[in-house]
Amino acid sequence: MALRNDFLWGGAIAANQVEGAWNIDVKGMSVADVASYKPALDVKDYAGHNTVTTKMIEEAKNDESTEFYPKRRGIDFYHHYKEDIALFAEMGFKALRISIAWTRIFPDGEEEQPNSLGVNFYKNVFEELKKYDIEPIVTLSHYEMPLHLSDKYNGWVDRKLVDLFVKYAEVCFKEFGPYVKYWLTFNEVDSVRRHPFTTAGVVEDKCKGYSFEKAIYQALHHQYVAAAIATKKCHEIIPGSQMGCMLTKLTTYPNTCNPEDVLLALESNLDNHSHADIQVLGEYPPLYKTYLKNKGILIEKEETDDLILKENKADYLALSYYMSRTESADPTKEQAAGNTVMGVKNPYLPSTDWGWQIDPVGLKISLMELYDRYRVPLMIVENGMGAKDELTSDNKVHDSYRIDYLREHIREMQAAVDLGVDLIGYTSWAPIDLISVSTSQMSKRYGYIYVDQDDLGNGSLDRIRKDSFYWYKKVIASNGAELE
Ligand code: BG6
Repeated sequence: MALRNDFLWGGAIAANQVEGAWNIDVKGMSVADVASYKPALDVKDYAGHNTVTTKMIEEAKNDESTEFYPKRRGIDFYHHYKEDIALFAEMGFKALRISIAWTRIFPDGEEEQPNSLGVNFYKNVFEELKKYDIEPIVTLSHYEMPLHLSDKYNGWVDRKLVDLFVKYAEVCFKEFGPYVKYWLTFNEVDSVRRHPFTTAGVVEDKCKGYSFEKAIYQALHHQYVAAAIATKKCHEIIPGSQMGCMLTKLTTYPNTCNPEDVLLALESNLDNHSHADIQVLGEYPPLYKTYLKNKGILIEKEETDDLILKENKADYLALSYYMSRTESADPTKEQAAGNTVMGVKNPYLPSTDWGWQIDPVGLKISLMELYDRYRVPLMIVENGMGAKDELTSDNKVHDSYRIDYLREHIREMQAAVDLGVDLIGYTSWAPIDLISVSTSQMSKRYGYIYVDQDDLGNGSLDRIRKDSFYWYKKVIASNGAELE
């Protein structure tokens, strides 16, 4: 079975990691603008490095530099978008996943009227995509909420955020509806649990009268409700639109057939799926409700919340997939890193330079599992390999390791489609080098296009085609038939 003829081949980027221009054209500060450079991030301790305090935020606000806050400069997509989109078009992209920076539309999140300069920027981007027939897939919130809302309300802990987000979403639907059919609400909504500040603006030392843990689950609930209301508005405002939800697919294996290992893996997978259950099936799963109850966490809900979730389910399920993880009941087992998660080292899998375990078959397993469970179309909206690239003296990047990674994942993706999985697109992360979310490094490169910039922001910002650029072009032209 071949991929569908209208298969959405392309790439995915996020505003906070590419745009730069953090303080111009009335843009407000976002949570990404205070994310510092962490070159020495210990991949064995992601959790510790995700702690964000009010003091750290205040220090960042008083520091104008972009050197130690690299997401402020990104790769200057704000001024290079025409050049970048032309390169994506040269590769034959059918789709580009981008996100809208909420702070360009509502700088503080609470203004009465949207910022017309921000609206115009995205209209220009969409016009440019239209020129090349590239379908935009747009995420409304990808780790870039207004910092003001974190400061004032402790982010999504406060119900007020639901209304503010819906207001922002409505502006996007009205302004960009003529260009955009495919939408996503929250990037990796599950990540509120792993990095609550980045995803939901929640800061531990601001939790007064409630626990940090309660704050996280409450924030998540508000995001589910906001996503459901946004889905309703999207359908009303843009006829024929498709609203997806997005999950970090963290497929977990048992380390052995010891039932204790199997149970741990099951719990981890159920936990991961619970976020999609709420958005695609429209309700909190029973086991998850009991889990929260046993933890003593009472989520504050409004009377109509359950109905809102039930009536406004996601049209499709989008996922990011980078690696798999393994659980063991034996605490002495060697650990391995992953996408802001840890797990037991899997002896069958190689790892990237950043210690993420490479598992193409895990993608096939993930797609089978998700399609069997949810029966809605799936879209892979992130998959890729962060690596250290070397630019040769004749301006080439021979990134065969990236080609190998992507080839094997695409092969397994196709195998899942052969088994009957309804898959509508594949946008790899990221088609162009950008600033890493977890470490804010530039040197953790994902692109088919090399960007001449180092970790401290030195470089010409020139765009250079890597070997993988030409490879991916052939893959798209052959609709996935030519992978070698
Ligand atoms: C995904 C995020 O989880 O992982 C992206 O949605 C991110 O924004 C990607 O860039 C890769 O992670 P990192 O830390 O290598 O940038």
